[in-house]
Amino acid sequence: MQETEKRKMEHVEVALKEDVHTTASNGFEKIRFLHYALPELDYSKISLETTFLGKKLSAPFMVTGMTGGCTEAEKINSEMAGACAEEGIIFAVGSQRAMLEDKSLKKTYAVKKGAFLCGNIGAYQLKKYSPKQIQSAIDDIRADALCVHLNPLQEAIQKEGDTDWTGVLEKITILCRELSVPVVAKEVGSGINGEVARELEKAGCNALDVSGLGGTSWSAVEHYRSGRSGDVFRDWGLPTAEALKQCSNAVRIPLIAAGGMRNGLEAAKAIRLGASIAGAAAPFLEAQQEGGPAEVKKLIKKWKHELKTAMFLTRSKNLGELRKAKLLE
Ligand SMILES: Cc1cc2nc3c(=O)[nH]c(=O)nc-3n(C[C@H](O)[C@H](O)[C@H](O)COP(=O)(O)O)c2cc1C
Repeated sequence: MQETEKRKMEHVEVALKEDVHTTASNGFEKIRFLHYALPELDYSKISLETTFLGKKLSAPFMVTGMTGGCTEAEKINSEMAGACAEEGIIFAVGSQRAMLEDKSLKKTYAVKKGAFLCGNIGAYQLKKYSPKQIQSAIDDIRADALCVHLNPLQEAIQKEGDTDWTGVLEKITILCRELSVPVVAKEVGSGINGEVARELEKAGCNALDVSGLGGTSWSAVEHYRSGRSGDVFRDWGLPTAEALKQCSNAVRIPLIAAGGMRNGLEAAKAIRLGASIAGAAAPFLEAQQEGGPAEVKKLIKKWKHELKTAMFLTRSKNLGELRKAKLLE
């Protein structure tokens, strides 16, 4: 088994078995909506529909990138992609580095079910692979967009980590110019600040996933793998709500709120703070492990119900109105 393939398997195992959650919160508990005792709305007519990067979705949700490149990943990706397609939301595969190293692993990522599928590659890998190679990895799985992940903390903690990050922004700029699908730059749990958001927008990124602090800690995951200083950095980064506020003040491209998002009410708050999409990783992986695609669908439906309930109680009949809903000072 290749090193990358082995690492991807360990990440899933550690994320499921160990306590890899941050102790810090995602910051959304501080945001409260003004409650309307008289909604004057029909709950059944509330619409969650939206369009993201030119594609229609039934709800503004996304299962963010986790896996691919190992045997177990094929089942995980296929079951989660199926559930997301049936519920009309975005699904993203994990880093495609393993299939760039070994083409035979393509099948563990090629899970397109007619819905919105995102590919994934580490920003650091852009120093090694040309835009043409990345384009072919995208074409191989018929992805609608590419997520480029920024994970400097994880790389610094990882035993085998890549730590010379000079020139990465320039590589992102070149990729954005040459790729045929939209590029979404994402963090993996430490958040994107306003300054970096502006740099990524200028580089040509079409959207950002702020993936902030408050959920899965990559530093904790790597701590369990290597025993290095990961636990010291468990709570490093910008809470997701803060990252979202900074990015939404800094850029005009659409934003995805992820990082410790655990229900549809938090999704409602994220949309109110400027997100177009709310996403999560770990909770959907846990659901898939517990009960396959049926359990993933159940969790998506639960988020839809919670988001709709928040909209009902804030007199918001669609997401445009939710964006203007009143908050408690
Ligand atoms: C098991 C696991 C594997 C992940 N692998 C990737 C990856 O390959 N590429 C990536 O961009 N993000 C990866 N992530 C990060 C998530 O996409 C997300 O940004 C982060 O976990 C925060 O979301 P959460 O708190 O809901 O888990 C992974 C997350 C988990 C839990």
